Amino acid sequence: MTARAQSTIVRQPYGTTTAGVAVDMFTMTNANGMEVKIITYGGIITAIRVPDRYGNMANVALGFNSLHDYEAKNPYFGCIVGRFANRIANATFTLDGKTYTLAPNEGPNTLHGGNVGFDKRVWEASETPSDAGVALRLHYLSPDGEEGYPGNLDVTVVYTLTDSNALRIDYAAATDAPTVLNLTNHSYFNLAGEGMGAIFDHILMIDADRYTPVDATLIPTGELAPVAGTPFDFRVPKAIGPGQRSNHPQVVVARGYDQNFVLNRPDPHDDLLMLAARVYEPGFGRVMEVWTTEPGIQFYAGNFLDATLVGASGHIYRQSDGFCLETQRFPDAPNQPGFPSAVLRPGERYATATVFKFATD
Ligand code: GLA
Repeated sequence: MTARAQSTIVRQPYGTTTAGVAVDMFTMTNANGMEVKIITYGGIITAIRVPDRYGNMANVALGFNSLHDYEAKNPYFGCIVGRFANRIANATFTLDGKTYTLAPNEGPNTLHGGNVGFDKRVWEASETPSDAGVALRLHYLSPDGEEGYPGNLDVTVVYTLTDSNALRIDYAAATDAPTVLNLTNHSYFNLAGEGMGAIFDHILMIDADRYTPVDATLIPTGELAPVAGTPFDFRVPKAIGPGQRSNHPQVVVARGYDQNFVLNRPDPHDDLLMLAARVYEPGFGRVMEVWTTEPGIQFYAGNFLDATLVGASGHIYRQSDGFCLETQRFPDAPNQPGFPSAVLRPGERYATATVFKFATD
């Protein structure tokens, strides 16, 4: 009988930020040899190594191989996004009659938490016991007023790698004043392998009958539009390529796929972990499923990758060389009364989960 390999988690120094803060890397390996690397800067997943249908391993997550690159020019590769993933219109919102001013960092709007979001913070990290696999606990205390958001916010993110090749992310938070919150992970995937070119042939399913159309600055209009008859209909799996080059006005305005899908859930506020999306890469046979408790998912096809970044394996990243499936509350939810709430109040516990399940076909 062959002894079953043990899952492990190993901590090692990764570098020092320009501000002089030490950053560590954790390497989690499961019993099958699947490997996930996470750094304490931004809680960034720098690599996810999974087998293809022949058993060959490759890294399917876009990223860099130095802390300097992550600090200097990261387009949100692999990071934890907060306090508010996606956009808030005109960098402002009103809660309980009080108006808050945020940092505009994309035209008039705020994107992904502002100038120094959770993706640029160094998180406290420790291995944490888990029945489900090896687990890394990241913790960050965001002070009242940080980037304009109210409330002292205590945030914990746990990454768990299971022996069934699933990477689970549990987000938890509590606040001492009413605030808004929308946490996600911004990994870019290429199931053929990072640096292997465009993801046009990937076959995508998203379980969503509707999506949230946007205006010229990518802020939702408030409408929940049907996907039927549009490039956004992924209810029956189809290749990403044709829609990514479509002349549909919503594709044109976003330069490709960059839309929030309204996941088919019985209740947008329930906390059931449900299958949201499935991606299959026919060449190597890797499959990734995304399960989440969240009501929305942003499908972004790397439209802003413009050949100015060199990735971990030494290849230039061009447009559509990776895709993101960012589980989330809907964009601009704090200003959209018709959207599921993104408000967190003292005494409440923010708790969401997203699981990336890897397999082959
Ligand atoms: C999200 C947004 C995109 C883009 C990327 C980061 O996916 O929706 O428009 O800003 O983040 O480059």
